[in-house]
Amino acid sequence: MKKILFLLLISLTTFAQNNIIPTPVSYEMSTSGGMSMFMLDSRTSIDVTDDNPDAKKIAENFVSSLGFMSGQKPIFKKVEKPTAQDKAIIFTINKTPNTQLGNEGYTLDVTSETIKMTANKPAGLFYAIQTLRQMMPPQAENKEFSMGMFPIMGCKITDYPRFGWRGLMLDVSRHFFTKDEVKNYIDLMSRYKLNTLHWHLSDDNGWRIEIKSLPKLTEIGAFRVVRNGGFGNREDPKEGEPATYGGFYTQEDVKEIVAYASERNVTIVPEIDVPGHSMAVLAAYPELSTKKDLKRSVNPGTNFADWFPNGTFKMKIENTLNPSDEKVYEFLDKVFTEIAPLFPNKYIHMGGDECYHGYWEEDAGCQAFMKKNNLKDVHELQSYFVKRVEKIINKKGKVMIGWDEILEGGLAPNATVMSWRGMKGGIEAAKQKHDVVMSPTTFAYLDYMQGDPSIEKPIYASLSLKKTYSFEPVPDSTDAKYILGGQGNLWTEQVQNYRHALYMTYPRAFAIAEATWSPKEKKDWDGFLARTENHFQRFDVANLKISKAVYDAIISTKKDGEKLICEMSNDIKGVDIFYTTDDSFPDKFSPKYTSPIEIPTGPVTLKVITYRNGQPLGRMLSIPRVDLEKRVKK
Ligand code: ACM
Repeated sequence: MKKILFLLLISLTTFAQNNIIPTPVSYEMSTSGGMSMFMLDSRTSIDVTDDNPDAKKIAENFVSSLGFMSGQKPIFKKVEKPTAQDKAIIFTINKTPNTQLGNEGYTLDVTSETIKMTANKPAGLFYAIQTLRQMMPPQAENKEFSMGMFPIMGCKITDYPRFGWRGLMLDVSRHFFTKDEVKNYIDLMSRYKLNTLHWHLSDDNGWRIEIKSLPKLTEIGAFRVVRNGGFGNREDPKEGEPATYGGFYTQEDVKEIVAYASERNVTIVPEIDVPGHSMAVLAAYPELSTKKDLKRSVNPGTNFADWFPNGTFKMKIENTLNPSDEKVYEFLDKVFTEIAPLFPNKYIHMGGDECYHGYWEEDAGCQAFMKKNNLKDVHELQSYFVKRVEKIINKKGKVMIGWDEILEGGLAPNATVMSWRGMKGGIEAAKQKHDVVMSPTTFAYLDYMQGDPSIEKPIYASLSLKKTYSFEPVPDSTDAKYILGGQGNLWTEQVQNYRHALYMTYPRAFAIAEATWSPKEKKDWDGFLARTENHFQRFDVANLKISKAVYDAIISTKKDGEKLICEMSNDIKGVDIFYTTDDSFPDKFSPKYTSPIEIPTGPVTLKVITYRNGQPLGRMLSIPRVDLEKRVKK
C-alpha cells in the first residue's frame, strides 16, 4: 500500500506539467470541475470502434506493454455509457478524415471516465498511444516496477507533425549492432515520434547486408580483425590474422526489421555509401578499384587518411570505386536489384560523401574516360558516376538521396539531397528545386561529444543538447516546401557497444524529435529541459542509458596577458558551480563560482562540480592546467 501511495505521489508531482516529447501542437489540461484523472487499471475496458484491425493491433500492443497485477488485464469490449467505475479507452479511426491531422496526427481526450483517441490513419493512433505512455508515471516504463495502476491527468490534445521526415541515422558499419539492438533503437525512436531510420549499411569498416548474387560482400566484407580503442589510430591487420569482428543482416533479418519498424510507423532508408567509403567492398571485390590491389582487407580503423586544416584530406588507402569501369555499374545494379524490394519506402541513399579523388587523378583509365566523355575534372567524373547510379536506382522504382557532395559537378536530375556540411548544401539544392533533408554537423551530429571533453569519449567535435535544441530545419532564405525534414546522425567510429549508442543518441534525439515534429513557435529551452528531466527518470526506470551531460559545468578559458582565466557556466537555470584547484574533491562547501577565475600556475588541476537545491547534480570534471591552456581560443 505504501508503495502505491508513493507511486501516486510521484505521479501527482509529475502532473504539474506535461512531459510530452515532442511537445504537442495543442495541449489543454482539463480544469472543468477540478482536476480530473483517469485511472488506467485492469478494470479498464478497451473499445476499438468498428473493430478496426489496425487499431486493434495498436491497442493490443499497448496493453501488453503495461504491467498489470496478477495477470489481470483490460478486456476488449464495447462500453455504452462509461463512468469512473466502468471506464473505457476508445480507439477510433475517423471515417471522414479530419484534414488538420493528416496521416500521422491524432486527438487525445482524457476525462475520468474515458480516454478517447481519434486519427485518420493507424499511424496517428500509434502516436496517440506514445503520448499517452508519456503521461503515465515513469514507473510505467518497467513492468517490474509497475503497480498495475496508471493515473493519467485529464486533458485535451490535438497533435500532428511539422515535417514528414523525422529521422535518425544509425551507422552499423563501424560498429555492428545485432538485430535485436536495431529493433530496440527503432522502438525507442518511435516513442518520440521519429519516423525514419536511415540505415548506414556499408562503409570502409564493414558491409552489413546480404546480397545473394555477390556473396563475397558478406563472406569477406562483413568481417575485420578485432581492434579496440581510438578509431583512426588502430593497428593494421597482421599477416594471416583472422577477421573475426563483424556481422551482417540476412535478407530475412532485413524483412523482419522492416516489418517491426513498420508496426511502429518507422520507414527504413538503406544507405550503400559509394563511390568513397568502399574499403569493405574492395576487400571482397578489389577489381572494382583503380589499383585492383588483391591484398586488401576490411579496415579496422587504422590511420587511413591525412586530414588538412581546410577540411580536405588525402587517403592513404584506396577506398573508392572506379567510375570508369562498367563492371562497377554492373555491380551496383546487382546490389540495388536485391535491396530495392526489401525496403518498401521510396528512397535509396547512395552516400556520395567524402570521396577522395587522388586515385582517379593518377589512373590512366579514369583520365582516358574523362576525355572521352568530355568531363573536365574529377568533380564532373563523380557527378557522372552519381547520375549513372541515379539511373540504376530510379530503374528499381526508387528515388535517390545522397549526401550534399552530390551537388558538386552538377546534381542528378531527380535526386534528394541530405545536407550535412552545415545547411548550405540544402539551401543550394532547394534553390535548384530539389528536395532536402537537413542533418547538419552543426546541430545534428550525435557522434559529437555532448559534455566536457575531459569526461566524454573523445571525438573531433562537440555538440551540446542546447545547441541541438536550437536546430531549425528551414533556413530563412529557403522555400519550406523543399525541406522534407531533419535528421540526427549517429556515426559509430567511437561507439563500441549499444548502451553507448543510446548514451550518444539521447537526449539529443529528443531535440531532433521536437525540431521536426513540434510547431516552431513552441520552442522553449527551459520547458524542454524540464520535460527531458522527466524522461531521464523514464530511461532510468527502463534500465536504458541516457546522457545527463547537460547537468555538468561548461568550462572555457582565455588569456589576459600571461594569466589563464577560466569561465564556468551551465545550460540550466538555478545551478551552482563549485570548484577546487588544490586537488581536493569539490562539494558545496568549496569555492562557489561567481565570476571568471585565474588558474594558478604550476601543476594544477581544476576540479568542478554542479549542485542544484543543495544536491549534487552533474559529474565532477577534472581538468589539468595544461589542458585548460589548450582550450584558449587563438
Ligand atoms: C558524413 O558525415 N560523411 C556524411
